[in-house]
Amino acid sequence: MSESLQKIQEEAVQKIREASNQEMLEEIRVSILGKKGALTQILKGMKDLSPEERPKIGQKVNEARAALEEIMLQKRKELKHAVLTERLKRETIDVTLPGKRQIRGHRHPNQIALEDLERVFIGMGYEVVEGPEIEYDRYNFELLNIPANHPAKDEQDTFYITKDILLRTQTSSVQARIMEQGKLPIKIISPGRVFRSDEVDATHSPSFHQVEGLVVGKNVTMADLKGTLDQFAREFFGPKTKTKLRPHHFPFTEPSAEVDVTCFKCGGKGCSVCKGSGWIEILGCGMVHPHVLEMCGIDPEVYSGFAFGIGLERVTLLKYEIDDMRLLYENDIRFLGQF
Ligand code: DAH
Repeated sequence: MSESLQKIQEEAVQKIREASNQEMLEEIRVSILGKKGALTQILKGMKDLSPEERPKIGQKVNEARAALEEIMLQKRKELKHAVLTERLKRETIDVTLPGKRQIRGHRHPNQIALEDLERVFIGMGYEVVEGPEIEYDRYNFELLNIPANHPAKDEQDTFYITKDILLRTQTSSVQARIMEQGKLPIKIISPGRVFRSDEVDATHSPSFHQVEGLVVGKNVTMADLKGTLDQFAREFFGPKTKTKLRPHHFPFTEPSAEVDVTCFKCGGKGCSVCKGSGWIEILGCGMVHPHVLEMCGIDPEVYSGFAFGIGLERVTLLKYEIDDMRLLYENDIRFLGQF
């Protein structure tokens, strides 16, 4: 009996050494120490032994069991360690590999031009305010000296939501809103989207953007307007840019003017950008009409002001020498990616 015990033990040690994973080890354990295991069988067979032999064999079986358990514990630790080492090897990160390139969006050329423009005016102490795109007739027309049946209204025919509410045709509506609040002095610019019943072509779109400017205070003169626009033109288009005021008519300003800047491409000699004239029209402006001040609750005897309206797309196209406005709205990444 003690011979077969020794044999069982030797074989078991051999098998344990060869086990290559936890499952195999568990199988070996069951086959030796389990209910029907080899060692257990020996214990069961002890009832046939003589009383003298019984304790000796019993002790040997227990020693064998303790020894095997110890070896298995050792082996289990080894296997666990091997698994971990293997996993760490598999999951190492090669920090020298090139990273995944992130596709980053960027600003639309209109937005770039707007932020440049805002920077210039903020630098001169202006505040940027916004007004609603869906507007009352009162702010878009009435308070700007464009009463019902005024011919200027026809030019700016737009989408009416009700008789009194419409898609605004000009950011000048924000002028009336700000003046009506009654906080003076005023020094604001107001960028935003406007709507017209225009057909799409290279220079027109039914929806485009304007930047309105308004200054109201004591002793505000046309010289201030001219100086402000000169400063803007120099900063936005280049230090050598000059401005020229041409008389014009807008219902909400008196006097009114359209402003041209010297062509930034040819410096005034005449080229394809300025269509040979040396000058480029960029905005409308004027001194706020006394009647407009009055309607908005400001005393024209005490206060005066100037206003201007810049077509954002127009200056964007000029700045980047783009010859078709539609390119700004088609959202072709190959085009937009160039800015
Ligand atoms: N609102 C005018 C337009 O859409 C542009 C304009 C002209 C704005 C003169 C002004 C201004 O503030 O003084 O045609």
